[in-house]
Amino acid sequence: MKTLKNHIKLVFPSHSENEGLARLAVSGFLAAEGADVSVIAELKTAVSEGVTNAIVHGYRNTHGLVTLEIKLFDSGRAKILIKDKGAGIEDITKAMEPLFTTAPEEERAGLGFAIMQSFCDKLRVRSAPGKGTTLTLEKYIYKR
Ligand SMILES: Nc1ncnc2c1ncn2[C@@H]1O[C@H](COP(=O)(O)OP(=O)(O)O)[C@@H](O)[C@H]1O
Ligand SMILES: [Mg+2]
Repeated sequence: MKTLKNHIKLVFPSHSENEGLARLAVSGFLAAEGADVSVIAELKTAVSEGVTNAIVHGYRNTHGLVTLEIKLFDSGRAKILIKDKGAGIEDITKAMEPLFTTAPEEERAGLGFAIMQSFCDKLRVRSAPGKGTTLTLEKYIYKR
């Protein structure tokens, strides 16, 4: 996963309508690179979960910037970063448990992390309370 083939960086305010923009950016970038259609669908879904989390949990009761970065390497692996500078996560292991949610009254299913994990080859979560959260998603984008 050494040589960078292509990359984009998108920075947008935490408005819910920008979730659709993030999905379009992912699919546009990956389609232009000839990614497998099912990979595109999976990564769109995973990114939409991550960006939604940044907006609704990271910037709950406040606003801020969300950064979406996609890096494609010569090996065919894509690395996607989703970053917020919001609330952060106190217990990452607990937050990643399927069905765990801190917003049950909003009818959140608590499955965002499970979806991201199942649709990616690798998921890394770095977070600090009061500082924000960075997700790193990795996936091979071509037909296997
Ligand atoms: N970017 C984030 N900033 C702060 N907390 C987050 C963030 N992403 C996830 N979380 C926490 O992790 C929990 C689980 O996330 P997720 O699996 O997507 O379920 P849901 O969004 O349905 O609650 C959330 O309820 C929230 O407490
Ligand atoms: Mg979620």
